[in-house]
Amino acid sequence: MIRAAITAVAGYVPENVMTNTDLEKFVDTNDEWITSRTGIKERRIELDPTKATSDMGAEAVKLLCKKRHISPEEIDLLICGTVTPDMSFPSTSNLICAKVGAKNAWGFDLTAACSGFIYGLATGAQFIETGRHKKVVIVGADMMSRILDFTDRATCVIFGDGAGAVLLEPSEDGLGMQDFVLHSDGNGGKHLNMPAGGSLHPASHDTVNNKMHYVYQEGQAVFKHAVYAMAEVTTSIMTKNKLTANDIKWLVPHQANKRIIEATAERMGIGPDKVMMNIERYGNTTAGTLPLLLWDYEKQIKKGDNLILSAFGGGFTWGSIWLKWSYDSK
Ligand code: UT7
Repeated sequence: MIRAAITAVAGYVPENVMTNTDLEKFVDTNDEWITSRTGIKERRIELDPTKATSDMGAEAVKLLCKKRHISPEEIDLLICGTVTPDMSFPSTSNLICAKVGAKNAWGFDLTAACSGFIYGLATGAQFIETGRHKKVVIVGADMMSRILDFTDRATCVIFGDGAGAVLLEPSEDGLGMQDFVLHSDGNGGKHLNMPAGGSLHPASHDTVNNKMHYVYQEGQAVFKHAVYAMAEVTTSIMTKNKLTANDIKWLVPHQANKRIIEATAERMGIGPDKVMMNIERYGNTTAGTLPLLLWDYEKQIKKGDNLILSAFGGGFTWGSIWLKWSYDSK
């Protein structure tokens, strides 16, 4: 059986660091509140108005190809998970392909908010498993600062900008993607969204005046659903595959809130030494969090390690992926 294995990871974050103390200068917040409620200390914010999500994605993909010693022309398919596309169309995937010179690839964007990367991974893996493609790139990228109201302390302290990318290739040694469990529930859409800019509320003076082009989040409602769903889906993929806590080497959880991550790990019965975490440095980069974690932790992951990736986000969308890591990083 052909499995889809991650054979390289890369990431990109803008240079500019915005700390909690920086935020104190323009919203009524403080480092103590942000740190204790979320775990975030700082995030990256792109200040150059000429740069967009595709630029971050393109940097990640260029590094990915360099690390794997392949030409971008070898990429068959590029899927980009994002809720902050450069524009409605063309897709950010198309723009990334053009920027990196992936001229033989086709691609599309996938809208699943914070679950964008796991949805993309599960989708891209199908093209490898069927033998249709040999090199599929999954990008998770979001420039959240472009849709944040920096006068709303409930949302602007949580998010940041960043992108990550992985390369999927066929593996016949049993390593790679083993299983996934994915869910969605559009009834949750009302709790977390960006109301305007689509066909329901096209851009108008009213939508701008009413701040409808920014992230809207009912924090507590999302928190409650996230804690339940992340724990439920991670334990269900373990039960389905008869995996015990001892079998799991790494939990790779979406970085929305340290408290959600800790509750998930506790339900799985795994200690903090097995939990990847970088929320303190990047905040919530939406589709970027999981590939950025893999990029940060790459050197510590060993061939054959069992990883559980898990995310919850706008939609609602949520799910888990079980994969066996396929290489030792040099
Ligand atoms: O990634 C997509 C999925 N998203 C998530 O998973 C996010 C889930 N939600 C959360 O992580 C949390 O709900 C938040 C971090 C967004 C908020 O934390 P919370 O513990 O749920 O706070 P809260 O909304 O219940 O607010 C508690 C208090 C309120 O004040 P009062 O009414 O108790 O006086 C807020 O006005 O904290 C206040 N508050 C703040 N204070 C200082 C809200 N934001 C801030 C802030 N600084 N930035």
